[in-house]
Amino acid sequence: MLQSQNGRNKTEKASSVESKKYLSTTYERVDRPPNFVDMTDNKAEKRPLRIILIGYMGAGKTTVGKALSKELGIPFYDLDWYIESRMYKTVKQIFDEKGEDGFRKVEQAMLHEVAEFENVIISCGGGTPCFFDNMDYMNAQGETVYLKAVPEVLHGHLVMGKSVRPLLLNKTPEEVDVFIREQLKLREPFYTKAKYTLDVSLMDNYEKIQLSVEKLRHLLNIEN
Ligand code: S3P
Repeated sequence: MLQSQNGRNKTEKASSVESKKYLSTTYERVDRPPNFVDMTDNKAEKRPLRIILIGYMGAGKTTVGKALSKELGIPFYDLDWYIESRMYKTVKQIFDEKGEDGFRKVEQAMLHEVAEFENVIISCGGGTPCFFDNMDYMNAQGETVYLKAVPEVLHGHLVMGKSVRPLLLNKTPEEVDVFIREQLKLREPFYTKAKYTLDVSLMDNYEKIQLSVEKLRHLLNIEN
């Protein structure tokens, strides 16, 4: 199951960029914010931009994805939400009806739909990179970023979170802790195949979320 790390992985560097002030906490989409980056105007590189966020449950993929979408003025897709709207079922219902194997097949099929869209930000489920050739496929399709957080932070977000996560149902907080640590060991070899890694362990308030977004722009070389 283990795979070697791709040599292109870059680690985020401290950025001196101050967090932006205009981002509202509601993340409603605007068509063209003042700092709209027209990705279609990039003559040097003809490839459409796809920023694909991966990482464990509770790392903040959706939070960062929405905030970056707002900044860049390009659409954001959460793969779980996409699956639910395409299948007219919740992720939990799909797990209940088809089991995890069935869910993974649906997830792969839906990944192949969203990752064809151009100039988008996509956040994947925590397990997406770890099944089939999904990680290689995502690396071929776009700029993959591993949002990395330590188990304590993931645990804090997951026990407080309201989302229904089938893999965590009926587990006590102690069992969730053990589960996260065990799963991270198995999943990290896949996550670290991402082209970039951004440490988001300290992303516990609005300013820090904004700082993570700025660091991500810097990593991806998308400047203001
Ligand atoms: C899963 C993560 C979930 C969702 C499903 C399975 C996983 O997404 O896809 O419950 O295997 O880690 P989030 O990472 O968005 O919670």
